[in-house]
Amino acid sequence: MSLHQRQQQKPQVGDPNPPSPHPPSPLLPHAFSTFTKPLLLLLSLLLLSLLFFRFQAHYNFSSAQSPLARWRDYTLSEAATFVAQNGTVILCAVSYPYLPFLNNWLISVARQRHHDQVLVVAEDYATLYAVNERWPGHAVLVPPVPDTQTAHKFGSQGFFNFTLRRPRHLLQILDLGYNVMYNDVDMVWLGDPFPYLVGTHDVYFTDDMAAVKPLDHPHGLPPPGKKGRPYICSCMIYLRPTRGAKFLLKKWIEEMQEQPWSKKQKANDQPAFNWALNKTVSQVDMYLLPQAAFPTGGLYFKNKTWVRETKGMHVIIHNNYIIGFEKKIKRFREYGLWLADDYSHESPLGKI
Ligand SMILES: *[C@@H]1O[C@H](CO)[C@@H](O)[C@H](O)[C@H]1NC(C)=O
Ligand SMILES: *[C@@H]1O[C@H](CO)[C@@H](O)[C@H](O)[C@H]1NC(C)=O
Ligand SMILES: *[C@@H]1O[C@H](CO)[C@@H](O)[C@H](O)[C@H]1NC(C)=O
Ligand SMILES: *[C@@H]1O[C@H](CO)[C@@H](O)[C@H](O)[C@H]1NC(C)=O
Repeated sequence: MSLHQRQQQKPQVGDPNPPSPHPPSPLLPHAFSTFTKPLLLLLSLLLLSLLFFRFQAHYNFSSAQSPLARWRDYTLSEAATFVAQNGTVILCAVSYPYLPFLNNWLISVARQRHHDQVLVVAEDYATLYAVNERWPGHAVLVPPVPDTQTAHKFGSQGFFNFTLRRPRHLLQILDLGYNVMYNDVDMVWLGDPFPYLVGTHDVYFTDDMAAVKPLDHPHGLPPPGKKGRPYICSCMIYLRPTRGAKFLLKKWIEEMQEQPWSKKQKANDQPAFNWALNKTVSQVDMYLLPQAAFPTGGLYFKNKTWVRETKGMHVIIHNNYIIGFEKKIKRFREYGLWLADDYSHESPLGKI
């Protein structure tokens, strides 16, 4: 007997045929003993088995679809689609020892309200799980995992192999139709960089040369330096999903393959990026971002006069022109740019 049927039997106000005050039959107690009792037993059994089945299903679900398995199969394309906002993804690449730098950078990005667009390319499983556990969907691992023992040593072959992956990830995101901004995580945002991406150029980048330029410097590819190529930083690049930008990335990949790592060369990806810029300048629409807003660490941390003169204009600070994890943290602290200790509550990852 359903609840609905039972309610229908209830006397209604104004019922033209109200039931007699003494129901004629002891139907209920009778039915309870001969019919409802076995039914109740059956129902309880059914309920128990249902509960058991649900428990089992849940158990199976969590072992087969454990968070670990879920993120192991998460692809760059799924991740980019998940984080993209206004057709734009902000990408960084991080291995486990660099999590404090990631958090520091992320706090500064969150202050500009762009953190939701951030995708972390995890270079090891520990990073993948650490990020996605706290901030689901914002980290992805693109196999194969590089050799983590050597991947952090600047100038090593492992480091080179690690940087080789960067233009490939960027190209894949452009192929999906998104704009992408790449950042090294030893950077700090002091302002929103997006208003500086003026016009509709294919690629935007910053100069790594420390020499002071006039505030109204030109925005084309700077002339080559001593090594015959420009000194553009591969640390901060913005690309639109255009033919020109994809062409540049393919050239960058090609250049890295043509100049493989050797003990003598100790290559990283920056020379190859600069040769790619040098060789594609006539086919790609390039834009050099203003030095006062995007200074190299070689200028910002070394010329106090310049920093004073350009006060209020700085947008992204790069902690380069210095080698070593501890030294970078120390320098950030000295300049009030180490946010990871006191402001971790502003990070989507919390304290890490
Ligand atoms: C997306 O674009 C709109 C309109 O230009 C802007 O107001 C908003 O801040 C943008 N959001 C992000 C996350 O960039
Ligand atoms: C780097 O990549 C090359 C070519 O794929 C490989 O032979 C080498 O073992 C890798 N080295 C390290 C240290 O990852
Ligand atoms: C490209 O490199 C060559 C060789 O160093 C140099 O002569 C040329 O000026 C460079 N072009 C640009 C646009 O940087
Ligand atoms: C430091 O900056 C000042 C002011 O912009 C500039 O005149 C000077 O040449 C710079 N010093 C060096 C060593 O580049």
